[in-house]
Amino acid sequence: AAEKDPTLNDEQFLVVGHRGVSGLAPEHTLASYDLVKGQKGDYIEVDLQMTKDGELIAMHDTKVDRTTNGTGEVRDMTLDEIKQLDAGSWFNEKFPEYAKEEYEGLKVPTLEEVFQRYGKDARYYIETKSPDVYPGMEEKLLNLLEEYNLTGPNEESSKVIIQSFSQESLLKVHDLNENIPLVQLLWYAPDGNGGYVEESGLTSSPEKVTEEELQAIDEYAVGIGMNYKYNNKMVINEEYVQEARDLDMLVHPYTVNEENDMETLIDWGVTGMFTNFAGKLDSTYKSI
Ligand code: G3P
Ligand code: CA
Repeated sequence: AAEKDPTLNDEQFLVVGHRGVSGLAPEHTLASYDLVKGQKGDYIEVDLQMTKDGELIAMHDTKVDRTTNGTGEVRDMTLDEIKQLDAGSWFNEKFPEYAKEEYEGLKVPTLEEVFQRYGKDARYYIETKSPDVYPGMEEKLLNLLEEYNLTGPNEESSKVIIQSFSQESLLKVHDLNENIPLVQLLWYAPDGNGGYVEESGLTSSPEKVTEEELQAIDEYAVGIGMNYKYNNKMVINEEYVQEARDLDMLVHPYTVNEENDMETLIDWGVTGMFTNFAGKLDSTYKSI
C-alpha cells in the first residue's frame, strides 16, 4: 500500500512518536527513534537540550539524572562528558517487561546524529526546551535544519514542525524562517480554586478558550499541542477542539497512551496526537 504522506492539511491525522516509541525503548535514543517508522509514526518527536560546549542533544530533562547513569545539568557538561553516559540501562530496570540487552550502554544522540541517521526519510517534531537557559538554541537548530535540507519553501514542504511552550522561542524561529510550521504547546493545571493556571498562551480555562486567544496563536503557529488530562481528569473537551479546528488549526494533545482516550480524542476531532505507542495509535485511528 502507498505510504501515508503526512502534510499539514488539517484533514491528515498525524501520529507523533513521543520521544520515539518510548513505551517500548529508552526515550530519545536512536533505538527508540528507529521504531517510529515501522510503527507507522509520521513524526519523530525530539526534545532539545544544549551542552556546555553548545551542542544540541536529544533529551527531555535539563538534568541527565533520570534517563542516564549520570548526574548533573546538561548545560554544565560537555558533549564528551554526555557521551560517556549510558542512556539505556535505566529503561531495562524500570520496564523489565520491555527490557532488551541491546539497550544497555546506548548513547545520548546529538540532533545532528539524528539527522545523519534518518535524513529526509523521516519527519521531525522538535521542541525547544528551556530556551531561556540556552541562548542561541534557535539559531543553532535552524542552521542544522538548513545544513540537512530539512526546511522547504513553505510549511507543507517542511520535514519539520517546531514546538515549544515558549512563545518567545517560537517567535524567534518565525523571525528567522517564516516557512517553518510551528506548534504552540500549552499546559493546563487546575489551580485549586476551580480555575486554571496559565503557563503559556491561553488565559481562560480550556473549555472556554476564546477565539481571540486562538487567533493570537494562529498569527504565528499552525496549531496547538496541549495536555488533555490533569490528575487523570480531562481538561479539554470537544468544544475546545472544534474552536481550534474552526480556525483550521492543528490540534495535537499529549501524551496519549490509552486506547479509550485515543478514541475519545479522535471522536472530538483532534488532528493527531503525541503517543509513546505509535503503533497503537495508528491501529486505533484506522479501526474507527
Ligand atoms: O511536546 C509535547 C509534549 O512532549 C510536551 O510535554 O514534557 O513530554 O515534553 P513533554
Ligand atoms: Ca516534548
